[in-house]
Amino acid sequence: MLPYIMILLAIDTSCDDTSASVLSDDVILSNVVSSQIEIHQKWGGVVPNLAKRAHIDKIDNVIKEALTVLNPKSEILKSKQSRNSNTKTQNDEFGGEMEKIDVIVVTQGPGLSPALGVGVDKAKELVKKYKKKLVAVNHIKGHLLSVFLKSKQDDLREIDLPALALTVSGGHSMIVRILPDFKYEVVGTTLDDAAGEALDKASKLLGLGYPGGPIIEKMAKTGDINFLKLPRPMKGHKGFDLSFSGLKTSFYYSIKDWSKEKIEANVENLAASFQEAVFDSLMGKYVKAIEEYETKSLIGVGGVMNNETLRQKIEKTGKQRGLSVYFPHSKALNGDNAAMIGMVGFYKAKRGQFVKDVDSFDRDARLEL
Ligand code: KG4
Ligand code: ZN
Repeated sequence: MLPYIMILLAIDTSCDDTSASVLSDDVILSNVVSSQIEIHQKWGGVVPNLAKRAHIDKIDNVIKEALTVLNPKSEILKSKQSRNSNTKTQNDEFGGEMEKIDVIVVTQGPGLSPALGVGVDKAKELVKKYKKKLVAVNHIKGHLLSVFLKSKQDDLREIDLPALALTVSGGHSMIVRILPDFKYEVVGTTLDDAAGEALDKASKLLGLGYPGGPIIEKMAKTGDINFLKLPRPMKGHKGFDLSFSGLKTSFYYSIKDWSKEKIEANVENLAASFQEAVFDSLMGKYVKAIEEYETKSLIGVGGVMNNETLRQKIEKTGKQRGLSVYFPHSKALNGDNAAMIGMVGFYKAKRGQFVKDVDSFDRDARLEL
């Protein structure tokens, strides 16, 4: 095993997944994600206070499970023990594994404020109790750089830069240039709803479940994308910004007088038409940005990148232009997860960017990229 610089514990509770991850530098050792889908499903969307309560219930066990990778038999621990041979093992609620952690990383925002607070409070508690350093990370930056995460030390994630990333989730939709040294430049962003949010709302309108993205994808497979004529918001506009709220309204008015039976009879076609309108709008601006900016690679990240149709559109765009296309090395890294937060934390820690005043550190639900 190659030498590592630090062992990190990362926590993300930004929305409806409780997640903790252990990394050695930018390599994932464990990445535990406990989804709350079942809790929110009956409400048709995430209920912030229920999310908070579920995070509180789950966080300790999720952290414990992530830490088990540092059990005494692991290779990582052997080398770490020789480095920290003077540290006494604490047999407390985290099984003494906390002593092997160098840095704690937590998502500061953006996200749902009550949900974010649980992760931030837990990180502060652990930092103080075990005398660790704290790094705060922007959740969108985690998604953006999730493509660089490694599954093992000798993983090759050499991505030719500058790259143009399309990052789309339930909370954001952005086109971002990634430059050497992880510098970045936001090229375009949504002016209202995120692409995943639009899919979730369309699913609700069709009487399908939550989260809508995967359900719409399944339905759309056998549907006709030309069944319903829907607008392509921002198409004629200058620049690279996106908008999905008008599309959602237009979809609503198209079917508002339809009976339940008529909607049910056409649900695949409606799902296909709506999904196509969302992805066509995304790709229209993305391709325009590829043509405008010098780009060597294309990157697709965020929860909506689980969608095969969208992945294929990006693959095709790359192929046509001779550009390499990258997604995170596993689909589990598209959605919310703490590993991506830990990786950004690693780079910040390497530069010494720690939280200076832990007591006054707080979440920021509207933190900008
Ligand atoms: O990144 P993520 O897990 O959480 C946020 O930061 O929002 O993304 C969740 C979003 C939801 O809107 C969900 O409907 C969407 O990603 N999503 C999908 C698919 N899987 C998840 N959208 C389209 N197709 C999918 N297969
Ligand atoms: Zn996210």
